[in-house]
Amino acid sequence: MEKLYPDSGVELTPFTARHYDAMMRFGSFGKYNGFIENAISKLKIQPADTILDMGCGTGKNACLISKYLSADAGAKLTGMDISDIMGEQFAENCSAFPFASFLQQRIDQPFDLGVKFDKVFISFVLHGFPHDVRQIIIKNAWDHLKAGGTFNILDFAEFDMKKMPFLHRFVFKKIECKYAFDYIEKDWKEILSGFGFKDFKEDLFFKNYVRLLRTRR
Ligand SMILES: C[S@@+](CC[C@H](N)C(=O)[O-])C[C@H]1O[C@@H](n2cnc3c(N)ncnc32)[C@H](O)[C@@H]1O
Repeated sequence: MEKLYPDSGVELTPFTARHYDAMMRFGSFGKYNGFIENAISKLKIQPADTILDMGCGTGKNACLISKYLSADAGAKLTGMDISDIMGEQFAENCSAFPFASFLQQRIDQPFDLGVKFDKVFISFVLHGFPHDVRQIIIKNAWDHLKAGGTFNILDFAEFDMKKMPFLHRFVFKKIECKYAFDYIEKDWKEILSGFGFKDFKEDLFFKNYVRLLRTRR
């Protein structure tokens, strides 16, 4: 399938999609699992929460989120991704959680699910789009949040590539797509404030190169 955005690194090849979790584990020297568990623990998930995971991938994050949710309390978790290969893995990985479902859907176009969520989560997806497309994704998140609901972005933090130690810069430039280079330069709190988001909270990981940014509608 042709890429929608040729310079994007988040539109994965079928091979990468099939082996995504293993690649993250190896690429992070085994640190990925602990990191993602830690980040998800900071989302303050309540048993009755309804959650939309945009660009959900294999469902690995959805499973970790699901541990905090309760079917009896009325929780719902919707994983949304463009990739049917991710959909198959999501269905298998999340089969123990009856409130978790997968929707094959593009997040870079306006959509209307007809429901609003307590939380929208987006992990290592937003950086991989041209900036005008990121605005559509953010608007989709805004439109699908209840008043007081939170938008949770786990992605690169803001940093100056020129100030990175040589080895870090070399690796970042080698593995990341061109859109990531402008993503790290942007003032995301200002951009999100422009949509109406408020009350920003952040946690930094991996030598401050990665950030969980939480904000409220
Ligand atoms: C880098 S992976 C991150 C997956 C997951 N969020 C995680 O943290 O493990 C990016 C994901 O975004 C999905 N994706 C890319 N472009 C998309 C689009 N236009 N609409 C929906 N999903 C998209 C890919 O299929 C892939 O699963």
